[in-house]
Formats: sequence, structure tokens, C-alpha cells
Amino acid sequence: MAPIERDVVIVGAGPSGLTAAYELTKAGRTVAVLEARDRVGGRTWTKDIEGATLELGGQWISPDQTGLYDLIGELGIETYPRYREGAGVFVAADGSRTEYTGADFPLGEEAIAETNQLIAELDRLAAELDPEAPWDHPRARELDTISFHHWLRTLSTDEEACTNIGLFIAGGMLTKPAHAFSALQAVLMAASAGSFSNLVDEDFILDRRIVGTMQGVSESLAGRIGDAVHLDNPVLRLEWNDDGVLAHGANVSVKAKKVILAIPPNLYSRISYVPPMPRRQHITHQHQSMGLVIKVHAVYPTPFWRDKGLSGTGFSPSSIVQEVYDNTLHGDLRGTLVGFVSDEKADAMFELDEKERRSVILADLAMFLGDEALAPEVYYESDFGSEEWTRGAYATSYDLGGLHRFGPDQNKNVGPIHFSSSDLAGEGYQHVDGAVRMGKRTAALIDAALGQG
Ligand code: FDA
Repeated sequence: MAPIERDVVIVGAGPSGLTAAYELTKAGRTVAVLEARDRVGGRTWTKDIEGATLELGGQWISPDQTGLYDLIGELGIETYPRYREGAGVFVAADGSRTEYTGADFPLGEEAIAETNQLIAELDRLAAELDPEAPWDHPRARELDTISFHHWLRTLSTDEEACTNIGLFIAGGMLTKPAHAFSALQAVLMAASAGSFSNLVDEDFILDRRIVGTMQGVSESLAGRIGDAVHLDNPVLRLEWNDDGVLAHGANVSVKAKKVILAIPPNLYSRISYVPPMPRRQHITHQHQSMGLVIKVHAVYPTPFWRDKGLSGTGFSPSSIVQEVYDNTLHGDLRGTLVGFVSDEKADAMFELDEKERRSVILADLAMFLGDEALAPEVYYESDFGSEEWTRGAYATSYDLGGLHRFGPDQNKNVGPIHFSSSDLAGEGYQHVDGAVRMGKRTAALIDAALGQG
């Protein structure tokens, strides 16, 4: 079949690729988007499970995420706040359960002081670091060659404080164990959200949700670029030279002046490049890997925890479900909880069969919020680790030493090949906001490079 000809071909119809396509279309460029799946949205995905509308992937937006806010403003999409009235629950390593209000976990005085001192140090470093170029920090190499786990223990001998702080970035964000990524990677995560304090404040980082769901943002973008999106078209071969590219989808081929790979970096090597990518990219792309998290959804006839004066928020460093939140959908009379099981805890859960896993996870929800949690009307586990076109969650990060070594080249185009992903963003790193920012930036670069011709 003869290829179609466009100015730009975009591989991947997630928020980053679709933002780029939308921006290029507004600039008068012709585009085609080739998407492997039978839907748009990538790691944002809404599914109706037994009558419950669940957001299986990305969903929350925080006040600093102005890339995404500007976009949804333009698309006429609104947001609503996460429910947060009432007390949170903290379950300590010894199993003791405490209901608490205020910003500090209910720890002993010394552990609170040590925790706050670690937060202050992370805030200080995050303020010094440019999230767009963390490798330029004077201590980049030093911070990138020590694991976050060990670095915390160089600052404090309080094991409880180190564990709690480690978990915010490890289980909570990168979804890898704290020994598997560097202190620099952790500081980048903090700087990308404005500060570490922002990142650990669930009222900030999990502030609001999208009316119509986060996947709806991608659907709205797709609706504005006409028939440019070609679903069920994984690109497995890309021919390129300085003049342009030929991207081969399953049943559409596109000849274009430029290509945007708007896919997560761990999937770059799924594509055969003819000629091959340069050595630098071959090596770099092997050092960015996905984390692993199970996002658990449990829907109840009512949000029963609210009647007990609980917000639905719970944390525990030692339990299988490390975090739980009220995730009731806008306008829904039922109550929905969402819980997260990360990295090595997720490995352990996947050793169990479905029934055993469900019962361990629900027992944790009950530990936080009461026995009513044991019997949801709907129960579902999002598992992006078994999705061929993602292979993990939430996003990719570098292994130890990779960020300062390979990061400086991660956003440089290779001839006509450009990269765009939330996982390559500075501000909004690993978030939909970062995907949108990267999409806009890449589109502007390409539009400028194509010029008037
Ligand atoms: P994304 O992965 O979304 O899209 C890439 C697209 O490329 C996919 O559609 C894929 O199918 C396609 N593709 C891959 N290979 C291809 C090929 N060879 N050919 C064609 N197509 C190909 N963020 C946030 O802001 N708030 C949140 O609450 C959360 N929570 C969260 C929970 C879970 C469980 C996950 C998995 C993720 C989040 N995130 C999040 C992260 C957020 O979803 C993520 O950062 C963005 O979706 C990334 O957008 P991109 O467009 O960069 O990639």
C-alpha cells in the first residue's frame, strides 16, 4: 500500500503525542498519529467495570501543573477536588493504627524532627536543581552515584524517618525500591513538582481530578485533529535519513519530514530503525526502565469511611497497600477507594493467585478504614505491567548513575527523529502535565525547523 504523506508522523496517541499533533495542526502542519492500541490515552485509561467508571491510569492534577491546566482550559474541560474532609490513618511498622490530622505523621517527637530535617534538606536541594537539567547541578555526579536509600542514611540515623521519606519517592512515585535509583533521581522528582514538600503533601499532589476523566483529555484532543489518528497501528519499523522518515504501522505507512516518538523510553527498542540509531541512543535507552505498581479500585454502596469522620486517606510503610485514598467519581453516590501496591510488594502479590491477592489487599483496606472495606461491590486491579504497550507504571526512570550520564542527551533529536514523553520532562516529570509540556515543546521545535516551506 502506498504511504500517505504528512509533514509530521507521531508514534503514540497518549497525552504527549496528541498534544503535539494538536499543536502542529493549529500551526497549519499536516499530521498522522499511529497508535498501537485500539484506543487513545496511553497510560490514562477509563474503563467501566461492572457498572463502575474507573480511572485505571493517570488521573490527579496538582496546582502547579499549568501545562495541563492551560490545555484543559483551552479544551473547555473542568476539574473537581478530591474528597479530603476528616482524619487520615497511619499504621506504623509495629502495626499500631492512629487517626491523625495535620501535616505530620503521628510519629514520636524525635522521628518527626528527623523527618522534617530530611524534608528540609530535600527541599533545599530541589530548590537548587533545575528540573530541565538536573545533570547541571554541581553535585549531580555525587548524588547520582549513591542510592536514595543509602543517601538518606548518610543524613539521619533515625530508621523510621529514613523509611518514611524513602517510601514517598520509592513506593509512592518511582515505584521502584529506594535502593534501585539515585538520590539525584529523587531530587529531580521533587524539583519537578516544585519542592519535596509539595510532593509529600497529598492535598497538593493529588489535588483535583478531571470531569470526564483524564483519558477524556486525550479523547478531546483526538476529536480536534480530524481523522489523523490511526488506531491498531503499532510502528515496528522506521526508515529514516536527514530528509525524512517512513513509518510503518500495521496497515498504514506514513512518509513525513519529521517523526515524534511519543512512547515511553522503555519501548523505543521495540522499533527497528533503518539505519540503526546511533550508539549513544542504543546505550541510553537501556538505562531507562519502568517501575511497577498495582492500582487497586474498590467500590462500596456508600463512602462508609466518611460517616466515621475519616477522609479515606491512609499510609503505612509496612503494609502491602502503602497508600489509600477516597477516589469516588464526580457525582457518584457510591464510595470508591483506591490503593497502591508498589515495587517488591507488587512482586509478592503477583506470586499469589487472584483470590489470595484480593483478600490480602482488602484486609489492608480494612485495617485502615474498617471491616466494611472487606466486601466491595466492585473490585479491580489495574496492572500496566502486563500491558504490552506500556510494560510497567507509573513511568520510567534511570538506574543508578544513569541520569547524569545519559540525561543530557535524552531530549536531543536524532536527525528527523524527536522524542516526547512525560518520562523525559523536567516540570511535570512522570505526570500527564509533563507529557503535555513535552508535546507542546516538541511541536514548537518541529514547527520552527520546518519553517515557511
Ligand atoms: P503514554 O504511555 O500515556 O502514551 C504512549 C502511547 O504510545 C500509548 O498509547 C501506547 O499504546 C503507544 N505506543 C507505544 N509503543 C508504540 C508503537 N511502537 N507504535 C505505536 N504506538 C505505540 N499522571 C498524573 O499526572 N497523575 C496521576 O494520578 C497519575 N497516575 C498514574 C497511575 C497509573 C497506574 C499510571 C500507569 C500512570 C499514572 N500517571 C499519572 C502517569 C501518566 O499517566 C503518564 O505520565 C502519561 O500518560 C504519559 O503520557 P505519554 O503520552 O508520555 O505516554
